[in-house]
Amino acid sequence: MNNENQKSTNVVWHQATVSRKRREEKNQHKSAVLWFTGLSGSGKSTLAHAVEEALYKLGLNTFVLDGDNVRHGLNKDLGFSDTDRKENIRRISEISKLMLEAGIITLTAFISPFKEERAMARSLMPHGDFIEIYCQCPLDTCETRDVKGLYKKARNGEIKDFTGISSPYEAPSNPELRVDTHKLSLEESVAKVIQLLQNRHIIPAAK
Ligand code: ADX
Repeated sequence: MNNENQKSTNVVWHQATVSRKRREEKNQHKSAVLWFTGLSGSGKSTLAHAVEEALYKLGLNTFVLDGDNVRHGLNKDLGFSDTDRKENIRRISEISKLMLEAGIITLTAFISPFKEERAMARSLMPHGDFIEIYCQCPLDTCETRDVKGLYKKARNGEIKDFTGISSPYEAPSNPELRVDTHKLSLEESVAKVIQLLQNRHIIPAAK
């Protein structure tokens, strides 16, 4: 949705005195959005939560926005048509942007299958704050794992518009990080993300 679609008129932005910069100084780390993308069953949620656990133990302020969870509440009015997926990602992008201002390292775990929506999410954030992490896992591996039994249902035609089966997944061509979740252990995958955050001075370097 662009500004042409804005229904609320006569609204004026109020500038917070407790700014993002002040929050970051207090927290002693920067805020950022770690945007995990990949097929269902590629390990996005598992990795995002494991990274959060590692960051939490370092005393950092984090929050995970997870597709399955958000669809129980805020986005329970949305399904899996292209239009609804776009709206799903638009809302999550806006929340992530607010959480940047709140000084939090947000980890989002949504399939986010469309390049255009991921580019839109990136464009909302200041340069360098949006970190796209591609959880790469071949479709047949995700399908063999079938942790939630959804691929089987999709193959049987019980679920329509299922990503990878009957709805497209557009892989990122230039993510900040690609994690081959089918080749690496969870610990190795977490270490790659933490290293990236240290290299980018979002979190302090290891002592
Ligand atoms: S997204 O495409 O809009 O980014 P999102 O990450 O929120 O998707 O939700 C994906 C999760 O919903 C999957 O992990 C799976 O558990 C569940 N799901 C249910 N129906 C579908 C479907 N048709 N396509 C993909 N995932 C589905």
